[in-house]
Amino acid sequence: MSDVFPVKGMDAVVFAVGNARQAAHFYSTAFGMRRVAYRGPETGCRDEAAHVLESGSVRFVVRGPVRAGTDLGRHVAEHGDGVVDLAIEVPDVAAAYEYAVSQGARGLEAPHTVEDEHGKVVMAAIATYGETRHTLVDRSNYSGPYLPGYQPAEPLVEPPAKRFFQAIDHCVGNVERMDEWVDFYHRVMGFTDMAEFIGDDIATEYSALMSKVVADGTRKVKFPLNEPAEGKRKSQIEEFLEFYGGPGVQHIALATNDILAAVDAMQAAGVEFLDTPDSYYEDPELRARIGKVRVPVEELQKRRILVDRDEDGYLLQIFTKPVQDRPTVFFELIERHGSMGFGKGNFKALFEAIEREQARRGNL
Ligand SMILES: [Fe+2]
Repeated sequence: MSDVFPVKGMDAVVFAVGNARQAAHFYSTAFGMRRVAYRGPETGCRDEAAHVLESGSVRFVVRGPVRAGTDLGRHVAEHGDGVVDLAIEVPDVAAAYEYAVSQGARGLEAPHTVEDEHGKVVMAAIATYGETRHTLVDRSNYSGPYLPGYQPAEPLVEPPAKRFFQAIDHCVGNVERMDEWVDFYHRVMGFTDMAEFIGDDIATEYSALMSKVVADGTRKVKFPLNEPAEGKRKSQIEEFLEFYGGPGVQHIALATNDILAAVDAMQAAGVEFLDTPDSYYEDPELRARIGKVRVPVEELQKRRILVDRDEDGYLLQIFTKPVQDRPTVFFELIERHGSMGFGKGNFKALFEAIEREQARRGNL
């Protein structure tokens, strides 16, 4: 079957934030990213400042308003710092946009070309859940640092010799009705369900959620979607929806080839990770289930790194606490060794850790 919506991969994760300069500093110092481009009043952009940061193929853009009365400022006031755009690189923007809109996607920006001395970029945008969008980008004829309008910029701090992470693994959305958005990605982008397809409730003593994963045919773009499920107390997804003010991006998973070094460096820089109790590591069932991994379990335990195994291999993963004051967006580090899963075997331990944090916030 021919791919109805070919994609090359994730192009960028764009954040709307209250203070782009400080956010860029955080992602530089705490996430080891290199600032490569900037746009703002100094470059003729009167309404906002935006910094572009990279780590391997990961590109973050942090945008903050520089004056009152902007739509970006309204977004930040309503949702707090959060993800406004999961931009996808595609080989043919016009074809992708037309297909998406013909399948019922709401068009936000028709295909258009922007250019400067570095070449041309074709872009269009469609709406997805909440106020989130997917910009579709073809930068195959462009050599500039990001997009026309952005100037190359020096790093804010010297990046570490070794990157903490290299690629975006997956981007997770919290929505009110999961099946509606699973259907949206099936229809609009021709995405299919991934092998690890979690249709059942994932329940802990207090809360529950449902989760399904859709991805493009090449599995370069993976979007898990969560919905709150009935539980004894407020689910972590309900907490997100309440504090974000509707559906939005819950977490971005970053692929790393050395999760131990990444956790050590990020922790030293002040990033807070979710705690996992010692009982998780001391459970003989876990040790039997995970088998042999590349480091002793004690090394994982020291850093609270979770491990899961399936028929294809294993993965190591860990989650940060929310990275802004609102209990909304957070990050995951993931080191895959064959497994294409999402850590299903860890969901219970992970959710119990999240619930301990929810309880501390008075939201459980
Ligand atoms: Fe994840």
